[in-house]
Amino acid sequence: MSEPQFIQLYQHNATAVAQELLLGLSAPQAFTSPKYLYDALGSRLFEAITELPEYDLTRTEAQLMRLHSADMAKHLPSGACWIDLGAGNCEKAGRLLGPMQAGRYVAVDISVDFVRQALDSLQRQHPGLRMAGLGTDFSGGLELPEALALAPAQPRVLFYPGSSIGNFTPEQALDFLQSLHRACGTAAGSGLLIGVDLIKDAAELEAAYDDMLGVTAAFDLNLLLHINRLVGSDFSVRDWRHLSRFNADQSRVEMHLQARQTVRVQWPGGERLFAQGETIHTENACKWRVPGFEALLLSAGFASTRVWTDPAQRFAVLWAAA
Ligand code: AVJ
Repeated sequence: MSEPQFIQLYQHNATAVAQELLLGLSAPQAFTSPKYLYDALGSRLFEAITELPEYDLTRTEAQLMRLHSADMAKHLPSGACWIDLGAGNCEKAGRLLGPMQAGRYVAVDISVDFVRQALDSLQRQHPGLRMAGLGTDFSGGLELPEALALAPAQPRVLFYPGSSIGNFTPEQALDFLQSLHRACGTAAGSGLLIGVDLIKDAAELEAAYDDMLGVTAAFDLNLLLHINRLVGSDFSVRDWRHLSRFNADQSRVEMHLQARQTVRVQWPGGERLFAQGETIHTENACKWRVPGFEALLLSAGFASTRVWTDPAQRFAVLWAAA
């Protein structure tokens, strides 16, 4: 049996993280990067979100992959190296490796510790498949290290499911997709398999980010506890409420934490006063129409696209050939 290789590139830098967070918290419209939503509890709350009745992205995408896997196999290269971006529990890619006849699997996440267990168990299911875990922060663009020893002639399938691309504004998404296009390398047949949530009724979109059980509210508010640990601030969860609103001009659901009354937040070396009603913008979830997203992929350098979508056009899975 092969053994997974593990490479950790990202090194947590407490000073840099605190600086970045405090810069955002001090801005006129306070904001934080969505990556801070995912501490240990946040990751578990996100998994719970994917099971909520209001949040059908994950289920709709899984159904599309199941329904169209035979057709996908016709368009995707066999024997490819699958590069799974934000792999986590490796479940989504794990279901495709067999049907798509993957030749290698690389699970990428911010920390290899997040993928270690999943990779070890996936390796037992695919004993002959060469696997690697790569710990890197790819939110600013994907760089594949020499240490992976990727074969130049082996096609690559970059796998970016879940509509995580929605965290980027269209301008950021273009840069990011350009970096993915470069990471496809030079072998014939390479490309990007990506899941994108589509524009739908505003009330439905808002409900997907503000569910009746309050799981998304807990997910958002938990950010404050994480920030307290990262910067030594004294946010109190009870001072804040979770908001989800569809910004139609920008085609995105925005998550905000709103101050319930005047709130003073202190941290070592600084503080901020939030007026009642003032918000911290914690996440963007940009929504797309299929033609707009195809155009974006082509401007990022991809040569052609193939789309699978459900009859109600709620979600799309696209193959963008490099
Ligand atoms: C993991 C970024 C795809 O935006 O739908 C879910 C995160 N935030 N509910 C999304 C999220 C609140 C999710 N992504």
